[in-house]
Amino acid sequence: MIFFNEQSQTFVLKAANFDYRVKVINGYLAHEYSGKAVPDEDMAYRFAPNFAYSPADDSGDKLHFLNNLPLEYPCAGIGDFREPSLHILNKNGMTSNDLRYESHRIYAGKPKLKNLPATFANDDEADTVEIVLVDKPSGIEATLLYTAFKNLPVISRSARVKNIGEDSVTLLRALSLCLDIENTRLDMITLSGMWARECEVQRQPLKRGKHSVGSIMGKSSAEFNPFLAIVDRDATEETGEVFGFSFVYSGNWIGQAEVNHMDRARVVMGINPYDFAWKLDPGEAFQTPEVILNYSCEGIGKMSRQFHDLYRNHLIPKRWALTKRPVQLNNWEGTYFDFTMEKLLSIARVAAEVGVEMFVLDDGWFGKRDNDKSGLGDWFVNETKLLGGIKHLADEINAMGLKFGLWFEPEMVNPDSDLYRAHPDWCIHVPERIHSQSRNQLVLDFSRGDVRKHIYGMIKDVLSSANIEYVKWDMNRTLSEVGSAAAASGRQRETWHRFVLGVYEMMERLTSDFPELLLENCSSGGGRFDPGMLFYSPQIWASDDSDAIERVKIQHGHSLVYPVSTLGSHVSAVPNHQVGRVTPLKTRGHVALMGAFGYELDASQFTNEEKEQVRAQIEEYHRYCHLPRTGDLYRLGNPFEEMYDAWVFVSKDKNEAILQYIQILARPSCAPRIIKLKGLDPDKTYKIEQTGQVLSGAALMNAGIYQHLTGDFESSLLRLTTI
Ligand code: GLA
Repeated sequence: MIFFNEQSQTFVLKAANFDYRVKVINGYLAHEYSGKAVPDEDMAYRFAPNFAYSPADDSGDKLHFLNNLPLEYPCAGIGDFREPSLHILNKNGMTSNDLRYESHRIYAGKPKLKNLPATFANDDEADTVEIVLVDKPSGIEATLLYTAFKNLPVISRSARVKNIGEDSVTLLRALSLCLDIENTRLDMITLSGMWARECEVQRQPLKRGKHSVGSIMGKSSAEFNPFLAIVDRDATEETGEVFGFSFVYSGNWIGQAEVNHMDRARVVMGINPYDFAWKLDPGEAFQTPEVILNYSCEGIGKMSRQFHDLYRNHLIPKRWALTKRPVQLNNWEGTYFDFTMEKLLSIARVAAEVGVEMFVLDDGWFGKRDNDKSGLGDWFVNETKLLGGIKHLADEINAMGLKFGLWFEPEMVNPDSDLYRAHPDWCIHVPERIHSQSRNQLVLDFSRGDVRKHIYGMIKDVLSSANIEYVKWDMNRTLSEVGSAAAASGRQRETWHRFVLGVYEMMERLTSDFPELLLENCSSGGGRFDPGMLFYSPQIWASDDSDAIERVKIQHGHSLVYPVSTLGSHVSAVPNHQVGRVTPLKTRGHVALMGAFGYELDASQFTNEEKEQVRAQIEEYHRYCHLPRTGDLYRLGNPFEEMYDAWVFVSKDKNEAILQYIQILARPSCAPRIIKLKGLDPDKTYKIEQTGQVLSGAALMNAGIYQHLTGDFESSLLRLTTI
């Protein structure tokens, strides 16, 4: 529910048990309160210390007023010296802006954001308020969009900045969210990492100054996932106030908490202002991507469950969000580039025999592509390597009862390719500068419609030529020397964002033209694992590190924000190719079973015993996977600090649960580990399928159960059902 209290000039946004109040004060839009629901009462007292300014005659101390006011969308250059949301260069080369409240509109539902992925909601699921702020002298109108979800303590925010003047202006920054938080004892949680080590949970106390995370790599990045949480210093998985911020965007971003001299924290999030500029001619508007603000007064675990529910029900394509995904076998780690038609079919045959449901052909099937030095951009089959072509392969695979899927890397080109030779200016580049390569490749200029059209045409031809039911969309480098041969000099710095919009447009076309296609994203693993991508693809390959023990941490980190059903997660061969570790097949299965499950190895090498084990694993997946996919996740361990991790997924009706326990290293002379479950119904009685033990939910949660495994990298999977 959202309403405007005329008398107190307050917008009251009521999400489920989360109030967010915004007040018009001296014409400025200020943040009054956010937190647990409170009755509608006048909270003007919260601004009392700031009232020493009168806008009528501009007397008093305006700078003191502004520098202390918790502004909802602060402008640069007028006396608020904390981080601004908006910074605009006007026709005379000057930059100060001063936005004042003008009007508003409240309505049911949630609008789409032009050309951008965003959460969606029906009219009965959310309400929206658009608050219009205007800066008359510079001819700028900023419309702040807030949507309050009815069933979740979630508010989404974005802004639309429009030039309503007569001269062109240039946006130097247009962030999506600013939120000032009063509490002085706060920690900040971020997800930091790099290739093969994505989403490590970092938690640190906020002190005065700015603590900033983000990306200027052209993609959301593995270095920092586009998320941060501001939590009470004492917050745990179950207790304390938590504000989670998740950015629905896949390019350069910034997330920052700034604690000022008054010990107030200002959080901002949006497109990174680094090298960003966007020219707005009269009448033009710029829409920022949205930030999801997720509030929990019961700790970090609840924040995660709310993110999971939000993204499953309001972001991921409905066709797939709650749907069981086919068990896939991807050939990448099994063969790398070294395969023939016969080799692939021999792998697929065994895959079909053990219960795999889809065979995915990864990199190396197109152009001249025997290694990573050539071929990207030439999206037509290499018949010397794949005798009979994709259609023949897909038909053979289908005849075995398997679906067929294919890898593409649409945004990239190798200099050694027909495409590059024909169109050397189609890559992102700065003339007369070296075109820096990474993995021997350059980035195609997806800010250009002609480039996108050509690449899409090739991909569509391949997808239309055979029964291809899945695409893995990869993106294996960052952006450098960013410039576009098609853009005017005054618009070059728009290329970063236009590139991302181009990628979104391609994904939109792909998923509209092939509505049944299962799209999986990937960017050297989890280099672009973000809500923007999840809007198009229900699953993303979480990491190129397929080692089960490393994956425990990687999956734990991702689970802070993302439903685990979105994490592409495969059993690979041992010794593991990334870390050389040897882990039991059982544990590899238990780790992978929680995500979008599959195998990534040469199945034709399976021993008979392994075939039996894999068959049983796949059966386990079919029996249990509805719980990770649709249930509530409770994290019971912390693999960043302890030698184990444990997750329990509980069905929404609390009649069923699955407990996954992974032991990292074994230790001698230790008492068995007690795992106290969470999220069960204390008054129900549960039976553990594997042990026959019968216990109340209360006992399982308060007294816990013992886990005592011998050996490193061991695991167990227990299913509980009510009796
Ligand atoms: C990236 C992906 C891998 C694989 C290779 C192929 O590294 O993350 O899964 O697809 O590219 O080149």
